[in-house]
Amino acid sequence: MALVSATEMLKKAKEGKYAVGAFNTNNLEWTKAILKGAQESNSPVMIQTSMGAAKYMGGYQVCYDLVNDLIDSMGITVPVALHLDHGEYEDALKCIEIGYTSVMFDGSHLPFEENLEKAKDVVAKAHAKGVSVECEVGSIGGEEDGVIGSGELADPAECKAMSETGIDFLAAGIGNIHGSYPENWAGLSFDRLAEIAAVIDGKPMVLHGGSGIPLDQIQKAISLGVSKINVNTECQEVFAAATRKYIEEGKDLEGKGFDPRKLLAPGTTAVTELVKERIQWFGSNGKA
Ligand code: 13P
Repeated sequence: MALVSATEMLKKAKEGKYAVGAFNTNNLEWTKAILKGAQESNSPVMIQTSMGAAKYMGGYQVCYDLVNDLIDSMGITVPVALHLDHGEYEDALKCIEIGYTSVMFDGSHLPFEENLEKAKDVVAKAHAKGVSVECEVGSIGGEEDGVIGSGELADPAECKAMSETGIDFLAAGIGNIHGSYPENWAGLSFDRLAEIAAVIDGKPMVLHGGSGIPLDQIQKAISLGVSKINVNTECQEVFAAATRKYIEEGKDLEGKGFDPRKLLAPGTTAVTELVKERIQWFGSNGKA
């Protein structure tokens, strides 16, 4: 199945009261792991590349070709959207040109008026090619690709203005942060989530920092309008733990255990297992 935009996928998720997992990829193994997890769960999925991960992989064209070719060679039949995560303006335009089917333009660090203006421009260019657009209001805490946000609750009036630019789904700070949550984390602000959801014309919301949020909070967020949940850190953690175990058990020293196809296999399987578990949590299994 060809790559699809995320607009329909997330509209259906919102109506059906589930969320689609958006998993960050870093390389061949992760891309295969995510696609396998989604296919085995019969679930729609979003594969996203941060700007840094795309650079690491050799550029946006490589990411696009990799995902497309794997969909073909793996016989993937579930809907897959290829999404740019936290893109600068220029990067969003580049991905639209290359064939990404969804982009996030993250102008949350810009003066708000500039964020709005650039969002409008990205929407016009993206929609002309059937590409869906996510934008962000109120920076999301934690660190991602060297960009550090202090974490905040987004202003509902700004969320309303952003939704009026024509974006397809909105990322807004509701107490969520990227990376691990600190011991003293106050949890998601459901009051703020409900306030925002009420003024954005029924658009789906995106929950960034999906790693480490307890299941009950995930489910409540979905019930209040979250339809896309980003997961990155947890995939990295399970990959690293499985790889560590393989080496600590000395398996790389047994026979041809040093072969990268063997060395990277436990981590890759761990990512697939986590993707499948999160798909169950988000309720998108069987919704392809
Ligand atoms: P985590 O790394 O906390 O899962 O967040 C991922 C994310 O929000 C990507 O945009």
